[in-house]
Amino acid sequence: MNIILLGPPGAGKGTQSSRLVEHRGMKQLSTGDMLRAAVKAGTPVGLKAKSVMDAGELVSDEIVSELIDAELAAMGPDTGAIFDGYPRTEVQAQILDELLAKHDRSLDHVIELAVDEDALVERITGRFSCANCGTLYHDTANPPVQEGVCDNCGSTEFKRRPDDNEETVRTRMQEYRAKTAPILPGYEARGIVTRVDGMASIDEVTASIDAILG
Ligand code: AP5
Ligand code: MG
Repeated sequence: MNIILLGPPGAGKGTQSSRLVEHRGMKQLSTGDMLRAAVKAGTPVGLKAKSVMDAGELVSDEIVSELIDAELAAMGPDTGAIFDGYPRTEVQAQILDELLAKHDRSLDHVIELAVDEDALVERITGRFSCANCGTLYHDTANPPVQEGVCDNCGSTEFKRRPDDNEETVRTRMQEYRAKTAPILPGYEARGIVTRVDGMASIDEVTASIDAILG
């Protein structure tokens, strides 16, 4: 099974992807995570992407599509893919169709996480993650059980993303509205889109996604 999780910054794509990885053994393909890893490693892709990401704008279609192509090539044929944060433009949506055909896969579901944008700023500015294993948290909605200690690996080091400030979040949302939301009608025409209330609790959103995937 191959699915797209679609939604604006802070909609919960990463949070729900981790659960699908854990519960169903699928693989999360997050172009945002791949780009952050490239920035951290100082690769040529990372050097190009850093200032664009810090401004909240979109990295080029070619760069992100090459990252996805490489990941699909490395995956076993029986592992399902969760596209998290890709595709984000009409060009990327078209390239994804070509990549899926190339790797002998098809798209089963596009799950749209519908959210109230004003609430998202709070979600994003409250987000942090474990510096060791990447588990996602939120200051109020989803803190670690024991303050200052990662639930998953026990690390006491946490980090925040440089693009998680209010000004950059506003730009990221504008980019979503202008360039990403327009890809939905094409998927709707194929009858594969299901909308989920992304403002519900994390567990409720997981339950809705489970019901869709069966
Ligand atoms: P990317 O990393 O994809 O960021 P994004 O789309 O802005 O989305 P986020 O990761 O911010 O949000 P999320 O939906 O994953 O929410 P999360 O689960 O973390 O992209 C970053 C940048 O990389 C882009 O701006 C761009 O520059 C570049 N880029 C990436 N892909 C690209 C592409 N394809 N093309 C071009 N450029 C690209 O949740 C957020 C917070 O809310 C967390 O704290 C979480 O604990 C909490 N939370 C989650 N769900 C709930 C809930 N139901 N209730 C309460 N709190 C919740
Ligand atoms: Mg994310």
